[in-house]
Amino acid sequence: MADATATEVLRPGDPAQLARAAALLRAGRLVAFPTETVYGLGADAANDRAVAEIFAAKGRPRINPLIVHVTDVTAAAQHVEISDRAAALAARFWPGPLTLVLPRRRDCQVSLLCSAGLESLAVRVPDHPLTQSLLEAFDGPMAGPSANPSGRVSPTSAAHVANALGGRIAAVLDGGPCRVGIESTVLDLTGATPRLLRQGGTSQEDLEALLGPLADAPAAVTDDHDTALAAPGQLSSHYAPRLPLRLNVTQPHADEVLLAFGAAVPEGAAATRNLSPAGDLTEAAANLFAALHGLDRPDFAGIAVMPLPEVGLGRAINDRLRRAAAPRDNRPDDRRDNGRDNNFQQADSA
Ligand code: TXA
Ligand code: MG
Repeated sequence: MADATATEVLRPGDPAQLARAAALLRAGRLVAFPTETVYGLGADAANDRAVAEIFAAKGRPRINPLIVHVTDVTAAAQHVEISDRAAALAARFWPGPLTLVLPRRRDCQVSLLCSAGLESLAVRVPDHPLTQSLLEAFDGPMAGPSANPSGRVSPTSAAHVANALGGRIAAVLDGGPCRVGIESTVLDLTGATPRLLRQGGTSQEDLEALLGPLADAPAAVTDDHDTALAAPGQLSSHYAPRLPLRLNVTQPHADEVLLAFGAAVPEGAAATRNLSPAGDLTEAAANLFAALHGLDRPDFAGIAVMPLPEVGLGRAINDRLRRAAAPRDNRPDDRRDNGRDNNFQQADSA
């Protein structure tokens, strides 16, 4: 494995550095890349060894499948069966923060590791000019989970990636902060009724306006990896900062840091960080992970979170907060270690 100084930070303003990122991907190396949602950890999706490296670098259980990033629906159709429903969703929401889980084509060239034993493959067309340029330069499907160690908060800046995975990956393409700030919505189209597997940057309301009511996602499972195969992405404890979270707080404690929302902020916390003083959920989503990264410091006893409305992007924000606050039975040393080595035993943050 490379040493800590070996991760290159590439500046995409320079075409030579973008070409370098594509060349590293072609050589089977790992390159973190910006998207509109969060930073991804990219690898050549057709290269088994490169995809296996993703699981190793993240400490991610191999039963948790990966999203494959492509330039457009035509490129997606080389790998998965595009139903009429999928085509309608792609026309409406791609490029954008929506991932579609679809049946793999028989002749699909994407590594089976990306599907983690399932007959489906998750595909997404990111809405970020740099991701598009990288995909064009690389000229193939790119596997890309969020670029965080398994179980940790997703990165929304190149610095988050470098802090968590520096030395484990070949390069990070620095595209500045992510606009949406929360991961894509994952929609399973393999059954009779579309099923929401993960709330994210495309709202349930917008999907239901096109599709009608969605089937319920399977109940969240705990850190049992066998169960996880039936319901990937539904592990209840993930996206976790090291400090404990307390939700729906109206009165913070003096040793807590308050994660606030809106104008009416209670007093009494050691410090306060407001996700959106104006009460705007889009702004709150964009700030959420940077706030969790920034507040996760031993100077506080915990993070107290004010209630956020359960509508639109608020559903995805509340989902991440609930997972961050979920019990973490398997990780007793979590708040003290460096968050890497013991992650192989943990639920994945996906
Ligand atoms: O916004 C995003 O989606 C980011 C950026 C980098 O694109 N990526 C991301 O990937 O969040 P990841 O791996 O962290 O989350 C993908 C989620 C996981 O919950 C995984 O279990 C689920 O999608 N997933 C992937 N393939 C699947 C499949 N074939 N069937 C069901 N769920 C799948
Ligand atoms: Mg993830």
